[in-house]
Amino acid sequence: MPKDKVAVVTGASRGIGLSIAKALAAQGARIVAVDIDQEATEKVVAQFKADGTEAIAVKANVTLAEDVEQIITAAMDAFGRVDILVNNAGITRDGLLLRMKDQDWDAVLSVNLKGAFLCSRAASKVMSKQRFGRIVNIASVVGQMGNAGQANYCASKAGLIGLTKSNARELARRNVTVNAVAPGFIATEMTEILPEKTKQELAAQIPLGSLGTAEDVANAVVFLASEKAGYVTGQVLGVNGGMYM
Ligand code: NAI
Repeated sequence: MPKDKVAVVTGASRGIGLSIAKALAAQGARIVAVDIDQEATEKVVAQFKADGTEAIAVKANVTLAEDVEQIITAAMDAFGRVDILVNNAGITRDGLLLRMKDQDWDAVLSVNLKGAFLCSRAASKVMSKQRFGRIVNIASVVGQMGNAGQANYCASKAGLIGLTKSNARELARRNVTVNAVAPGFIATEMTEILPEKTKQELAAQIPLGSLGTAEDVANAVVFLASEKAGYVTGQVLGVNGGMYM
């Protein structure tokens, strides 16, 4: 990846988003770290700068159009372009559909799907003008398979795959690619606290025999965001150890 690329990563202050931002920075990209958690994002950016990566922190709620416009304005003011957008910010509000509260449906659809729509719309304007762009949406294997207790989350991630394909068709002529990465079970702080037996049961469902890491996801994003993926668009790259084929 050429050194001057500017990457906007949402939900960049921890977990998979932080790994993605680090992996893109390691390739020489300048980082626009976006998160609703201002303090954590500023810490992450301070560390990037200490390590010699140009980076800015933008506090934004991706569900609000005015916040999202401000992300792109901040990126343009700081760096003058936006080459890569990674829509990674996401939440869960799990529960069986029979008992699911309206707010839990709306919150998940709002962050995971509308957030990606708003960020894609804002970034697409700049990328179209530049005649270059890479958008990578972080979906999930459960958006492809379904999962009991996650109707809202699975619907949001399946919707994100539809958004990916439509936007890929719309932007292809502008040399902007749009792809999704669909992680499987990834070891995070969330899964660290699970009992060993549960972890073993999860791993037993995975052909490659173990949970994935945030770095596994980040490596796939780095490829799709690179010049080398220029002929790949509208695709869903599973990073799931083979649990869904
Ligand atoms: P996480 O909860 O550790 O991090 C999500 C980040 O998004 C947080 O920093 C949070 O502050 C931020 N965020 C939440 N709502 C926001 C909003 N409205 N505006 C701006 N930022 C907001 O989650 P994790 O595990 O790192 O997941 C990242 C992405 O990967 C999500 O889209 C998730 O659905 C997806 N994913 C995760 C898997 C896993 O096993 N952890 C598996 C498959 C997909």
